[in-house]
Amino acid sequence: MNPLQQQLISDIRTNGPLPFVDYMEYCLYAPGYGYYDSDKTIFGATGDFVTAPELGKLFAGTLARSIADTASRLGSYELLEIGAGSGKLALDLLQALQQLNSLPSRYRILEKSKTLRQRQQTLLNQTGLPLSIEWLDDFPSQPWRGTIIANEVLDALPVENFRVTASGLDRLAVSVNKNNQLKWDALPATPELTEAVRQLQQTLSEQHAIEWSSPYTSEICLGLTSLLANLKKNLTSGQLLFIDYGYLRHEFYHPQRHMGTLVSHTGHQGHFDLLANPGAQDITAFVDFSAVMDAAEACGLNVDAFQTQANFLITAGIEQVMQDALLGGSTQTAMMLSHEMKQLMLPGEMGEKFKVLQLSC
Ligand SMILES: C[S@@+](CC[C@H](N)C(=O)[O-])C[C@H]1O[C@@H](n2cnc3c(N)ncnc32)[C@H](O)[C@@H]1O
Repeated sequence: MNPLQQQLISDIRTNGPLPFVDYMEYCLYAPGYGYYDSDKTIFGATGDFVTAPELGKLFAGTLARSIADTASRLGSYELLEIGAGSGKLALDLLQALQQLNSLPSRYRILEKSKTLRQRQQTLLNQTGLPLSIEWLDDFPSQPWRGTIIANEVLDALPVENFRVTASGLDRLAVSVNKNNQLKWDALPATPELTEAVRQLQQTLSEQHAIEWSSPYTSEICLGLTSLLANLKKNLTSGQLLFIDYGYLRHEFYHPQRHMGTLVSHTGHQGHFDLLANPGAQDITAFVDFSAVMDAAEACGLNVDAFQTQANFLITAGIEQVMQDALLGGSTQTAMMLSHEMKQLMLPGEMGEKFKVLQLSC
């Protein structure tokens, strides 16, 4: 039994069943032991999953073109990255922006995991680039303008896991059996969850003629509104780019998706045993992009575009980035770039499953 599991079991024995949202928070972010705060290799071929920036430099190079385009309208601008993972996106993005003569005046990172923050610092403190790179403990407290980027961060926000049955709404939770094994449990829904699910069902019924059959299990991210409001608070002018796997509301909460979207990853395999190896495997939920758009509009942000990753990258000029990268390269380089391009663009890979939401103010 790992230390996180011991702690979980002891807490549950003392305090009772742990709401899933708190279990997810614990498993991913418990200081020192949570998945993102452990010394585990998470990203890349030797880790558990590969994100777009970990595939190579095409993603960051193309994102840089999009950011440079917006930045040219802002004049001096700053970049804020949320959840920077290994730091690779920041490094490649800044190098690409330098080549485009569009470096921001400052690059800031808001990273929840102390361990990842240290890894990012090790990687980024030696770039030699003429700008300051800073790590924030909290959202920016002074007015600023520029671009916020968050690649695969929304899917790592803890979510409420709920179940609608003929007799009502359950807040799913984690408990312990007499053999000290974690097991699923259910708690009465909180007023906030009850209201959120009521509104969700009403919208699905009125706008999409969707009614769930019972039981229907899914998840909802109640932390979105405060995240968007906090990001918007001191941003006087600029754009926000959220890139993630997800759906619009009617697809996310489709009657056939009656087991929700939560999934665990370990060693490049996805599986649904969310209670196995707490802290040693990723837990993630797809993003309800309709909810992100609603939260954005509620705090005064404009929704500029919502499209597949493939469309976004084509519009931002990935073909040019590819051609530049191919110049003077070996056959092996060309093969690697071709593989990377396919991973980013093909519908069965990241091209359609991943979406890009562009917001502005
Ligand atoms: C799936 S990883 C993605 C990492 C990186 N963006 C990439 O694409 O490779 C999620 C990242 O978001 C961070 N994170 C999650 N929630 C966060 C929050 N509320 N604030 C800041 N960072 C967060 C995690 O610690 C981790 O670095």
